[in-house]
Amino acid sequence: MDNSLIIALDFADANEVSHFLKPFGSRHLFVKVGMELYYQEGPSIIHMLKESGHRIFLDLKLHDIPNTVKSAMKGLARLNCDLVNVHAAGGKEMMQSAIEGLEAGTTSGMKRPACIAVTQLTSTSEEQMGQEQLIKVSLQESVIHYASLAKEAGLDGVVCSAWEAGSIREKLGKDFYTVTPGIRMEADAVGDQKRVATPAFARKSGVTSIVVGRSITRSSDPLKSYQQWMEAWKGAQQ
Ligand code: C5P
Repeated sequence: MDNSLIIALDFADANEVSHFLKPFGSRHLFVKVGMELYYQEGPSIIHMLKESGHRIFLDLKLHDIPNTVKSAMKGLARLNCDLVNVHAAGGKEMMQSAIEGLEAGTTSGMKRPACIAVTQLTSTSEEQMGQEQLIKVSLQESVIHYASLAKEAGLDGVVCSAWEAGSIREKLGKDFYTVTPGIRMEADAVGDQKRVATPAFARKSGVTSIVVGRSITRSSDPLKSYQQWMEAWKGAQQ
């Protein structure tokens, strides 16, 4: 998990994924499968990626009543992904149920997938959070509160922006994962993301792993972009 660069495979179907992965040859990547792809292809896309030796973050952001999340996680555990997630807003009991489901579904002798909680989406601004969710504390406080709740529930870490990762690490320890999307090079388009940061800033904040989507997947030369990103990310680690 540590220091990984996770590529968000935000594609419509398996053909697009195969086309994207072709130039990467036999490299073993850490990839993220989100709603767009999983809802089209289902478990077969996970089997396909695992057969090629890739590590997988299944980003379905579960958020439902505890019993439903527990049953869903029990099924997802059988896919043997490395990392799955839930929304912290679902509450502590829901997060505890997610872990129970994962433990129940993990094949004996295998390691259960790590489970992290989405705190506030990196596309959410403090203004939006106040006006739409009626959360009146600062965004930083809300994220840290959700992270503490996730840790109490037995989760392995959180999804947050690089802007909150430093405080989370300070409060909850360096073994608690901070996985951060919304990472951009200086010259990149921000798109719908709000709390963006560069790889160097992410490293300085001590994040565990970064998630990079469009900057690589929409590039005219994805392999070259990936290599440049790896250089920027690994370089920032020195
Ligand atoms: O293209 P971009 O680099 O913005 O992609 C970020 C990825 O991370 C997307 O797949 C998005 O769904 C995901 N994500 C996020 N913010 C979160 C959780 C996941 O952007 N809090």
